[in-house]
Amino acid sequence: DESDDPDSSKQETSSGSDSSSEEEEDEVEASEKAAPAVKEEQEEEMETKTVEVKEEEKREDKKTAVHKIDNCQPAVFIPVDRLPEIQEARLKLPVLAEEQVIMEAVKENDCVVLCGETGSGKTTQVPQFLYEAGYASAGGLIGVTEPRRVAAVSMSHRVANEMNLSTGVVSYQIRFEGNVTKDTKIKFMTDGVLLKEVQKDFLLQKYSVIIIDEAHERSVYTDILIGLLSRIVALRNKKGLPMKLLIMSATLRVEDFTENKRLFRIPPPVIKVEARQFPVTVHFNKRTPMEDYVAEAFRKTCKIHRMLPPGGILVFLTGQAEVQSVCRRLRKAFPYRPKNTQNTEMEDAPEELRKFKRQKQKKSVSLPRIDLNNYSALPVDEGDEDRQAGVDDEDDEGSDLDLGDQPEDSEEKADPSIPLYVLPLYSLLAPEQQAKVFRPPPPGARLCVVATNVAETSLTIPGIKYVVDCGRVKKRFYDRVTGVSSFKVTWTSQASANQRAGRAGRTEAGHCYRLYSSAVFSDFSEFSEAEITRRPVDDLVLQMKDLNIEKVWGSGALMSAEQLLISLGALEEPPRQGRMVDMERARLSCPITPLGRAMAAFPVSPRYAKMLALGRQQGCMPYTITIVAAMTVREIFEELDRPASSEEESSKLAGRKARFSQMRRLWAGQGQSLLLGDLMVLLGAVGACEFASCTPKFCEENGLRYKAMLEIRRLRGQLTNAVNAVCSDAGVCVDNKMAPPTESQVVCLRQIVLAGLGDHLARRVQTEELLDPKWRNGYKTPLLDEPVFIHPSSALHKELPEFVVYQEIMETTKMYMRGVCAVQADWIPKLLPQYCHFSGPEQSPAPWYCTVSGKVKCRQQSTFFRVGWKLPAIEMD
Ligand code: CDP
Ligand code: MG
Repeated sequence: DESDDPDSSKQETSSGSDSSSEEEEDEVEASEKAAPAVKEEQEEEMETKTVEVKEEEKREDKKTAVHKIDNCQPAVFIPVDRLPEIQEARLKLPVLAEEQVIMEAVKENDCVVLCGETGSGKTTQVPQFLYEAGYASAGGLIGVTEPRRVAAVSMSHRVANEMNLSTGVVSYQIRFEGNVTKDTKIKFMTDGVLLKEVQKDFLLQKYSVIIIDEAHERSVYTDILIGLLSRIVALRNKKGLPMKLLIMSATLRVEDFTENKRLFRIPPPVIKVEARQFPVTVHFNKRTPMEDYVAEAFRKTCKIHRMLPPGGILVFLTGQAEVQSVCRRLRKAFPYRPKNTQNTEMEDAPEELRKFKRQKQKKSVSLPRIDLNNYSALPVDEGDEDRQAGVDDEDDEGSDLDLGDQPEDSEEKADPSIPLYVLPLYSLLAPEQQAKVFRPPPPGARLCVVATNVAETSLTIPGIKYVVDCGRVKKRFYDRVTGVSSFKVTWTSQASANQRAGRAGRTEAGHCYRLYSSAVFSDFSEFSEAEITRRPVDDLVLQMKDLNIEKVWGSGALMSAEQLLISLGALEEPPRQGRMVDMERARLSCPITPLGRAMAAFPVSPRYAKMLALGRQQGCMPYTITIVAAMTVREIFEELDRPASSEEESSKLAGRKARFSQMRRLWAGQGQSLLLGDLMVLLGAVGACEFASCTPKFCEENGLRYKAMLEIRRLRGQLTNAVNAVCSDAGVCVDNKMAPPTESQVVCLRQIVLAGLGDHLARRVQTEELLDPKWRNGYKTPLLDEPVFIHPSSALHKELPEFVVYQEIMETTKMYMRGVCAVQADWIPKLLPQYCHFSGPEQSPAPWYCTVSGKVKCRQQSTFFRVGWKLPAIEMD
């Protein structure tokens, strides 16, 4: 009876919504850390409990609720003209049954928590309830925040569609784009966007309601927003401008919010939506977990498709490359040919990309030489062109290489008469491509979505009956002490594994195939850590300071962020003398400086903001903006360090690699340019690409990610506006086609970079360490005991300058510095006096050295001066 269970492995039935409400001390603590507490905060002892709102209990609640407002009562009922089939589908959603309870709770309370299983209709329906109840009719907006861009875009489209309204009324805003108009009534946005708005208008006066969606994900911005909003709502009510706050979450961790006394003195009511969850049978692998879970996921999916009855398949993997590779292999194993073969995957692509792909399909493209006014580009060689013609045209990233046939493919080649409709889903995928997963698959075909954990909670894909779970997740780890970042694939948590399994039981009983044993599962941690514990928080601290929340409480992370901000000159330095208590108090509430305010206006992290603040000298601003934009974008170069499946492919890969490294050398240039190092490569790449009008073709030929280049272009525009707004006489204009910087501008740029990345200083090891081979070509940094290195792909790999600053340290096989730029020793005490230790000549025979404790010693005290928000600040002689 194979048909029920392809691997006849161990079974276990779960209802999908079990592990919901157990809570842990730590989790509450984490959320307290996360929530910024204002100065005047009073700790009140208050009994907290979760309230499930039933009719009787609600009356109880009313008695205890303090801030009750009656004037926020919706005046009118706004009719919505939905299509009958949409109305019918809505009625099946569990949240509809609770509409009245929800709306009454919202009316009676400033803040309401709504929790319910993913797919119960929270995100799509609650904004509609509020709209119909008139919350957007008196000029106020209904704002909905999502932790992911994907969700903000797709949900706005979905809701507009359900309500039969245009996207000018139900709109979205994400970091770089949006379709908000003056008629917008419901606005979906990322939580980061709303946080920026809080900085502009602390009271968020254009909103009548804010919905914080997916609060259980505990993204940093969400955590901080909830902290701020709990106060904003109270302030608005005090001023007679009532506002409502709705916190929506999956059934996890509601207590993080309700039982946190710093957030709510009186715990807000919690409404639970009971979802109709069909039973999901969980199948564990018998064997110890496979190393190659990607191949295993592919095999399992093939088996399900060949043997099990109809129903969509959802495969969870950890990253974009894995998703693309499994999609390709599945498409190969089960070729699916829609009627108009060529265009289905391209129909939504931007016109330019389509043109390019069509050209590639014609195969005989002649590639003209590019004249780039000093920016250099190599002619394309033959081998590359062949390869391009053979590339799968299906993904719009344009940067992935075909991984080719894997040995298993042949044995899995199944009856091609069963069509499998394979779609990828990950956060960087273009919105039009993402939207496809919500449309019904072509008649007769089985839907198979291969996704990263974006499909875990924020998006519900209809019709999924089978889930294949690799049990892993890719996460960025950040070591606060050393500042080292790394991406690691680790086991996920039990809570998210259960969420994944739950995806199989939305429409009918389903199955979840876990590619790991039950023993491994029981070793998973119960919940995933909140994001705030895994990333640098200096930008958040600066933003809070800019909101005049001076005392940023709590964790060591926040304090070290404060320290960085002080050293960047964004916060005032606390007094070094005085009574212990006074010093301690001052240290806890360092006020923001004018430079800090200027920095906070830039939508980038403080180190980069400082560069922008100094970028005006010698006409360097356009270059500074470009470098910052390029450093902010995740990865501008195509990834070539992947294993090749065949010898032929690996030689092609090697050819491409060689060509791209040649390109990088050209972009890095000579002399001063070369000393700007990897940042010059970024500048050269963007410059060259813009001279070639940033076409997909140019990117493909030169190993650049087309999407990254578009993002850089947008970010350059945005940063230019920000610079002009901060500094009315800056008058910087975006000139996409800028000329390369002059020698003296490059020197200036290196100084600007040093001023921003000063705490990321590294010095090549001196003679004593060289005795130990592990220090060969190594660099010493103030905080690490181990050597760090310049990556072989870096422009400065051969140069090995004595002092460098770096963008970040990534740990792979070794600790490598990324984004390396050479600096001159005598700039350090001028630009970074706070990192220098000045002493008499007799104590330090060498003029400079970097000690393990992080101090650079210097004997010329006279060179000491501070850099502030005085624009022509670096007067080097
Ligand atoms: O927010 P929550 O997880 O509670 O549910 P939702 O995102 O509002 O989704 C409610 C229902 O709408 C789900 O069952 C989805 O299948 C469906 N939906 C859809 O078909 N297409 C979309 N673009 C979004 C949701
Ligand atoms: Mg949702």
